[in-house]
Amino acid sequence: MSGLYFGGDYNPDQWPENLWAQDFALMRKASVNLVTVGVFSWSRLQPAPDHLDFGWLDRVLDGLHTAGVGVCLATPTASPPPWFTRLHPDALPVTRQGVRLSHGSRDAYCINAPAYRQASVRIAAELADRYREHPALRLWHVHNEYGTSCFCAHCEHAFRNWLRERHGDLDALNDAWSTAFWSQRYGRWDEILPPRATQYRSNPAQELDYRRFLSDSMVRHFREQRNVLAGQAPVTTNFVLGDWVPVDHASFAREVDLVAVDHYPSTVDAAQAERAFAADRARGWARAAGHPDGHWLLMEHAPGAIQADGVVQSLPKGSIAEAAETYLARGAVGIMYFQWRASRGGAEQWHPAMIPHEGPDSPVFDEVTRLGAALSTRTPVVVDAEVALIYDEQTMWAWQGDHLPTRHLNYEGLAVRWHAALTAVHRTVDVVPPGADLRHYRLVVAPALFLMSAATHAWLRSCTADIVLTAACGAVDEHARVTPGSLDDLIGARVITRRWLPPSESVALADGRTAGLCFETLQPTTARVLITTADGSPAVIRNRRVTYTAAPDLVELVT
Ligand code: GAL
Ligand code: ZN
Repeated sequence: MSGLYFGGDYNPDQWPENLWAQDFALMRKASVNLVTVGVFSWSRLQPAPDHLDFGWLDRVLDGLHTAGVGVCLATPTASPPPWFTRLHPDALPVTRQGVRLSHGSRDAYCINAPAYRQASVRIAAELADRYREHPALRLWHVHNEYGTSCFCAHCEHAFRNWLRERHGDLDALNDAWSTAFWSQRYGRWDEILPPRATQYRSNPAQELDYRRFLSDSMVRHFREQRNVLAGQAPVTTNFVLGDWVPVDHASFAREVDLVAVDHYPSTVDAAQAERAFAADRARGWARAAGHPDGHWLLMEHAPGAIQADGVVQSLPKGSIAEAAETYLARGAVGIMYFQWRASRGGAEQWHPAMIPHEGPDSPVFDEVTRLGAALSTRTPVVVDAEVALIYDEQTMWAWQGDHLPTRHLNYEGLAVRWHAALTAVHRTVDVVPPGADLRHYRLVVAPALFLMSAATHAWLRSCTADIVLTAACGAVDEHARVTPGSLDDLIGARVITRRWLPPSESVALADGRTAGLCFETLQPTTARVLITTADGSPAVIRNRRVTYTAAPDLVELVT
């Protein structure tokens, strides 16, 4: 498709069939050309283990096709039906505390439970067999928002196998996990467990490996479905962004045909900055995964409202178009919402929708309709960026945990600040993960890139662009082991001390600015000092093409 996608999640199975014709007509009115169907339809598609019912979905897809609306067809695996849970109680997720969760919400599965994985492939294969040639089909949407953690016995076994692959032998694992500390040395593989609830602080290396393992488990679940779906239509899944998500989207992005993200800003005031950052991340994942145009799809967004501070807050008129423009200017190939029609019942009945409870004769639908018309003649833009901001989800994980020297460094919040400052000056900025191809950038900025593997170190050293690094970069390796001096050669200085600052404390610079979060005492070897503190110690130094700031939040530096 050469134009833009416009639409949202459409859940006709949650409404009486006699409403569908009206939906199709209203979609035409709003210039909707793509709807996501079937995300939570498993119990309708397969009401019992040996009973499949696709008749209703045939009618939905045929009706949409006749109305000229394309379909992003979802596999329903994010919400197994009650019969599945009844037959396979061992496939319910278990929390860190050992509590087996119940059916009654969604995402009631363990990604590593064999019965769940088999059932997932089966329902995906049934959908593929039936609809792969359907003329309405534009895109396959696998699952929904991969991110459910589990700590059960299936995960325990799968984790051990994963660790064997990653570490080879127990000596290597013991070394990587620093198990000499607190007598954690493992003598047999079957002694190793998921990082379940512990008496006191858990092992940070075990936590990191567990997130990586869950991420790989989800990728494997995705691949199993992609293998049966792959054909004419591209295959994707909708990424959910958040610090709780155990998914490394930079690697997941290499598995999808089109990067798709859901985005729900967490504040009203900073919503535009959050949107810009999310969009530039999505484009960065697409580029780093080998799609030079950086195109991506906004799969979900709330039309005209933001849930923040415990309130669903309506946004002023014009906000729907304003939000859409922010994503489109950053390479989105479509604007999609959750959801088409506001639910009357269920857990998300108060969630905003393209057609609110009040019906189509309402300001929100009016705005949606105007936007649809305006977008119908436009095409996606290809964003040209000379500046890259490095954002790493594994570093974001590493900045979590109660063992850290500060709990005040919010990695994503800091990255959003750097991003806003960079975009104010350089207009467009790709937000890319470590390992991305940096040849096209003039400037590469990596704030607080705390966790740096040997591969990341090598990658940074091979970069020929100007680089900005900050305090706390490269402080630990990929197993959360402290690596003092790991960047000394690159920054041309020794880090003598690193002082972690409480929120009430800052360091005054000679030029009147202040630095917070942490401040490093630097002893230049080959670097020049560009800016000093009020009492004369180096605050910003430069070593050939590398600039280094003694605090992570000297954001104004780029202006
Ligand atoms: C997304 C999810 C949708 C819906 C939406 C509400 O996380 O994919 O199904 O729950 O949030 O904001
Ligand atoms: Zn599990």
